[in-house]
Amino acid sequence: MYYPTTRLRRLRQNPVLRSMVTETKVTTDDLIMPLFACPGKNVKNPIQSMPGNFQLSIDLLVEECKSLMEVGINSVLLFGIPETKDDTGIIGAHEHAIIPRAIRAIKKDVPGMYVIADVCNCEYTTHGHCGTIVNGDVDNDLTLDTLAAQSISFAKSGVDMVAPSDMMDGRVGKMRKALDTNHFYNLPIMAYSAKYASSFYGPFRDAADSAPQFGDRNSYQMNPANSDEALREIELDIEEGADIVMVKPALSYLDIIRRAKDTFNIPIAAYNVSGEFSMVKAAAEKGWIDEERMVKEILTSIKRAGSDIILTYHAKEFAQYLR
Ligand code: PBG
Repeated sequence: MYYPTTRLRRLRQNPVLRSMVTETKVTTDDLIMPLFACPGKNVKNPIQSMPGNFQLSIDLLVEECKSLMEVGINSVLLFGIPETKDDTGIIGAHEHAIIPRAIRAIKKDVPGMYVIADVCNCEYTTHGHCGTIVNGDVDNDLTLDTLAAQSISFAKSGVDMVAPSDMMDGRVGKMRKALDTNHFYNLPIMAYSAKYASSFYGPFRDAADSAPQFGDRNSYQMNPANSDEALREIELDIEEGADIVMVKPALSYLDIIRRAKDTFNIPIAAYNVSGEFSMVKAAAEKGWIDEERMVKEILTSIKRAGSDIILTYHAKEFAQYLR
């Protein structure tokens, strides 16, 4: 049936009707807010390139978790800024390291908050790479040991989920085995499976003080040109025991999210990364765009592409828009 019998504008005439036939609705349940924990007390360092985001000492991190829950954001992803760094990043796995302390504090004072910890070494190494350096490159298998140690340490501190973001081969299997051996068989792993070597991480590296001091991450993160390879990465992570798989960044990779959703029957997460966030903020500051409309459109498009879960720095503001 064609025009004039069929008229698609008919269903767009009334706001109630438009809402009724809306195919994709983003809710606060879909969103995870990334937060940055730093040493000290009463510390709130603004992250210049990410307006509205801060490095927070643990006392204020706990307060932020309370305020997130008040607007309906019940899940956070933690990154740590340590007091000191070392060669391998193993310092991040110490029981008194920043993330284990942050996890314990949040779970004690805000027990309803679902706490996910990013597992990687780049915040904890002096050189800023995601693992142990041998002959100028990150050694895959040595790095697996530090990642497993971090997972166990976070698990012992009471974390609800771990999320490896390092892109080493075999890390999910290694972590799953280590967790199971220590009786954390119910602790889920959300794997950064298809993580690209992206220019969109720029602001994050300021936020987490994790920029590589030499070279780049091209020997472990994926080439933005590749799509089939993303499916292989995801498939391997599922085989190794990932419970949720992630595509990162989100906006330049909506096609990857869609392929992943169509190919695998597992929850898909997408990370709306720092650079994607900062571009919106910068344009909004200049008055060039309508920020609220744009944020809603962006998050809707990521979900429409097939993502069940969205990690986004817009989470809190989005929740406030809905109220
Ligand atoms: C650590 C990590 C990074 C991000 C999440 N985990 C940085 C990187 O790989 O360089 C990026 C998050 C963002 O840009 O918002 N490996």
